[in-house]
Amino acid sequence: MSDLAILWRMARGMPAASDHAGRLEGFYASQADAYDRFRSRLLHGRDELIARIQVPPGGTWVELGAGTGRNLEALGDRLPALRQAHLVDLCPSLLAVARRRRTGRGWSNVDVVEADATTWRPSAPADVVLCAYSLSMMPDWRAVVANAQAMLRPGGCFAVVDFTLVDAPVAAMARCRSQSAAARWFWRSWFGHDGVRPDAALLPHLARAFRVEHLAIGHGPVPYLPLRMAYATFIGRV
Ligand SMILES: C[S@@+](CC[C@H](N)C(=O)[O-])C[C@H]1O[C@@H](n2cnc3c(N)ncnc32)[C@H](O)[C@@H]1O
Repeated sequence: MSDLAILWRMARGMPAASDHAGRLEGFYASQADAYDRFRSRLLHGRDELIARIQVPPGGTWVELGAGTGRNLEALGDRLPALRQAHLVDLCPSLLAVARRRRTGRGWSNVDVVEADATTWRPSAPADVVLCAYSLSMMPDWRAVVANAQAMLRPGGCFAVVDFTLVDAPVAAMARCRSQSAAARWFWRSWFGHDGVRPDAALLPHLARAFRVEHLAIGHGPVPYLPLRMAYATFIGRV
């Protein structure tokens, strides 16, 4: 599928449906096969964040809102050393890509689960929970953060990379320049059309809920826009 088809889907915005899962499937079904290629130019900082995460051999890895499972590729040699990796998502079309990837790579320790990240829990406490560009698509992201906190073992690691708005408190936390009110309005509207809601409340919330090990803001290009969007990377421990 060409960029044009993806852009057309994005221009039409998040479709109407009776529930969140239905809206996600309506949005992603036609994009699933081309998702990874297009998003590699939009969703910045994922591989750099994953490289920072300490992954205990024999541990349990959870990604909430895992989509196609592409983030497991960034684990490299650390993936076979895990006891189990769980990929959790609500969107069947993206999970179908994740299942094909698991089969193609022979990942025998990877579990692909269709479930809601606000409520799903692994059978054993997790060592690492990752949310990569997923909290901004989860209407009740605070419930997902609370769920991640509850499923982690003591000392476990919560890692987040996501778009962020940079108001004065966020800029002070990350020691960077804040965005103007007009810029924040633009990005809220631009992403909101596709059901993505970057929230300046996210980083302060994470910093209160976890012991902060890493917190930074970067700026990445947006395909076909002459602008760069802010994204946050965060690692915290329970
Ligand atoms: C922008 S995609 C990111 C996917 C993947 N983490 C990545 O880095 O490519 C956001 C994902 O969150 C999923 N999602 C949104 N709300 C969810 C929920 N309540 N439970 C589980 N997954 C959800 C969507 O289906 C989608 O796959």
